[in-house]
Amino acid sequence: MSVLVTGGAGYIGSVTVQTLLENGYRVIVVDDLSGGHRESLPENVDLVVGDIGNSDVLDRVFSRNRIEAVIHFAAESTVTTSMEYPGRCFKVNVTSSTALLEASYRYGIRKFVFSSSAAVYGSPLSIPISEEAPMRPTNPYGLSKVVFERILRWYQAVYGLTVVILRYFNAAGAVGGLGEWHDPETHLIPRILRTAMGKAPGVTILGTDYPTPDGTCVRDYVHVQDIATAHVLALRYAQDLSEYCFNLGLGWGYSVKEVVEAARRVTGVSFPVSVGSRRSGDPPILVADAQKARLYLGWSPKFVDLEEIIDTAWVWNRKHLGVGH
Ligand code: UFG
Repeated sequence: MSVLVTGGAGYIGSVTVQTLLENGYRVIVVDDLSGGHRESLPENVDLVVGDIGNSDVLDRVFSRNRIEAVIHFAAESTVTTSMEYPGRCFKVNVTSSTALLEASYRYGIRKFVFSSSAAVYGSPLSIPISEEAPMRPTNPYGLSKVVFERILRWYQAVYGLTVVILRYFNAAGAVGGLGEWHDPETHLIPRILRTAMGKAPGVTILGTDYPTPDGTCVRDYVHVQDIATAHVLALRYAQDLSEYCFNLGLGWGYSVKEVVEAARRVTGVSFPVSVGSRRSGDPPILVADAQKARLYLGWSPKFVDLEEIIDTAWVWNRKHLGVGH
C-alpha cells in the first residue's frame, strides 16, 4: 500500500515513516522543510518539498502516485507559536489542511489519519481525560485541531471517507538517528537535555502556582516510537464508524519538577534550574485515558518508564547536538 505522509520529515513524522517502511508500506512524503529535516528521511523515500496548501503540489503528488491512504502530520505544532502567531496556525492547520483533505477526496483516498492533540481538551474537568471529554482548548493551536477534527467528521459523513484521529499527549524520546530537533525549541525535555549538555544556560520552570501537587504542570509523556506504531495500527484498523478518535498517552503524568529530577538522574548532570512565570495557554494537567486505543487499535506502548524515555532522547542529543547543531 502507498501512503502519503505530510510533515514526514518532522519529529513524529520521520519516526512514523521509518516504521511504515519497516512494515512494508511504500511512502511518499510532502514536507515544506519549515520544521522538518531532509536528513531525517532515508534515501529511498520520495520527498516532495512543498506546501500542503498548494494545489499544484497536491495534484502532482496524487496524480503521479497510486496513494491509498494519507497520514497528515504537517502543522504549526507548538502552543507557544500559536499564542504569538494565531493566524499562521489557523492557515496551516485549518486552511491548508482542508485543501489537502479536499484533494484527498478528489483523488479517491480511502483512509485519512490525522495527528490531533491533547491540546483539544484545554483544562479538562476530570483526569484522566477520555475522548468524550468536552473540547475546550486554551490556545489557538488546540482550537485549530478541534476545527479540523470537525471538518474531518463532515468528510466522513458526506463522502464516507474513513477517518482515524489520533490525539497525542506529550511526545518524547528518540529512535536511533531520529530525535526531537526544533528551532526554536520550546519543549521541556529537549530544553532540559540541551542544558545538561551545556548548550543552554539553564532550565526555567514556567509556573509553580498551578493547581497540581507540586504547583508545576503535569503531562503524560509518551514515546515517539509508540506514537509511530499507533499510525500503522490506525492504517490496519477496520473502521468502526463510532470509534475513530483515540487518545495516545500512558495514563499517568509527571510534573515539570519531576521531569527535571528524572533528567538529572538520567544525565548525571546537576544543571541549573530557575523558576519563571506561567507560559500563556498552558493547561495545568493533561493525562490520557488511552483505553480505547488499546482496545480498538490493539495499541500497547512499549516505553512505560519516564527515565527510559528520557534516556533515549539523551543518547540522541549527545550524538547529534554534540556535532554542531
Ligand atoms: N515547560 C517548562 N519549561 C520549559 C518548557 C516547558 O516549564 O522550558 C513546561 C510547560 O510550561 C508545560 C510542560 O513543561 O507545562 C510541557 O511543555 P512542552 O512545551 O514540552 O509541551 P506542551 O505540553 O506545551 O505541548 C505538547 C505539544 C503539543 C501538545 C501537548 C499535549 O507541543 O502539541 O504537548 O499535551 F498539544
